[in-house]
Amino acid sequence: MLRGKRVLLIISGGIAAYKSLDLIRRLRERGADVRAVLTRAGEQFVTPLSVSALTEDKVYTDLFSLTDEAEMGHIQLSRNADVLVVAPASADILARMAAGMANDLATTVLLATDKPVLAAPAMNVRMWQHPATQSNLEVLRDRGVMIVGPNEGDMACGEYGPGRMAEPLEIVAEVSNFFQTASGPLAGRRALVTSGPTHEPIDPVRYIANRSSGRQGHAIAIALAEAGAEVTLVTGPVDLPEPPGLTTVPVETAREMLAACQSALPADIAVCAAAVADWHVADAANQKLKKADGQATPTLALSENPDILATLSKSGPERPAVVIGFAAETEDVVAHAQAKLARKGCDWILANDVSPAVGTFGGDRNTIHLVTPDGVEDWPTLSKRDVGRRLVQTIIERGPFAE
Ligand code: C5P
Repeated sequence: MLRGKRVLLIISGGIAAYKSLDLIRRLRERGADVRAVLTRAGEQFVTPLSVSALTEDKVYTDLFSLTDEAEMGHIQLSRNADVLVVAPASADILARMAAGMANDLATTVLLATDKPVLAAPAMNVRMWQHPATQSNLEVLRDRGVMIVGPNEGDMACGEYGPGRMAEPLEIVAEVSNFFQTASGPLAGRRALVTSGPTHEPIDPVRYIANRSSGRQGHAIAIALAEAGAEVTLVTGPVDLPEPPGLTTVPVETAREMLAACQSALPADIAVCAAAVADWHVADAANQKLKKADGQATPTLALSENPDILATLSKSGPERPAVVIGFAAETEDVVAHAQAKLARKGCDWILANDVSPAVGTFGGDRNTIHLVTPDGVEDWPTLSKRDVGRRLVQTIIERGPFAE
């Protein structure tokens, strides 16, 4: 994956800089060309000589070096790379990147680049947790900067917590992953995935929900991203981490989910894996409902929720080229799915049995019947991860983008 790729490694100041020496070796072992920029603070932790010995190239340190500028201007330095990796990324350099500063060679290169940037933060746990650092990270993530780590553990300063730079091999994996995604079969395609349950409020503290864990929807979103698609994951409340490398939009109700999906259009692929509530409480109370002696038990009047799958399937010129739904059934799984395919207007349905005895909801495995206008295909019982991968493979091979 990394053969011939040009990595510009920016080493900023931090004790983790010693690990960047190993990072250079690991990247080069895999065939990457590594050129390094060392900040002034970085030079306090590793010497230009050791960096240069490992890159077998000169090390760039000075914005105002006449020789360097004559040989290779700082703009050229950033353009001549396929990816920029900032490791370690100190709190200081992250702040300067977020602010768009260009007060040394490293930040000038980072501001001048049109190439993807990956940062591996490393700092004291309190610096990491400081709202300033967290909001800088949010700014950088929004701008598309990829972040790897930090990991949790003992710190050089004697504290414990998140702040340790990701290990060199983790950074290498992230860089490889980036190149794999950029050349994946769905590169350039946009995908929208719904996942998880919805919560429909009864009053400010109570809601109607279901047992969906979001595992299947999240796994599909991850598999689409791994194949190179640009993924928006619209998810109801789940107890899962936000998957890296895609845009996650958290929502609560079906109506919010529909609005989030519509603002994610246009998309080439839509997969509706969320277990959307069919109804919401017509007049959810603004205050907590109280039980009072002698009062009648309240009756909840329900109104129908929008059908997101049907709406996306019939969204006119903005309709994604492939729209896929799920049919969670407890009986006559395939027959119901076939009826649903016609009713909702989607292209394929993944039918699965959610009887409690099967344990699909919340479990790790799923037994799928792929229902298309051409027939039914029974898949073996697979992990939800593998269902995601197999679905993506099917989209690639049999979907509208197949050559
Ligand atoms: O009609 P039913 O709920 O069984 O249909 C399931 C499929 O429809 C799933 O793909 C689910 O994500 C989608 N759906 C939806 N919006 C709804 C109800 C279901 O997108 N309001």
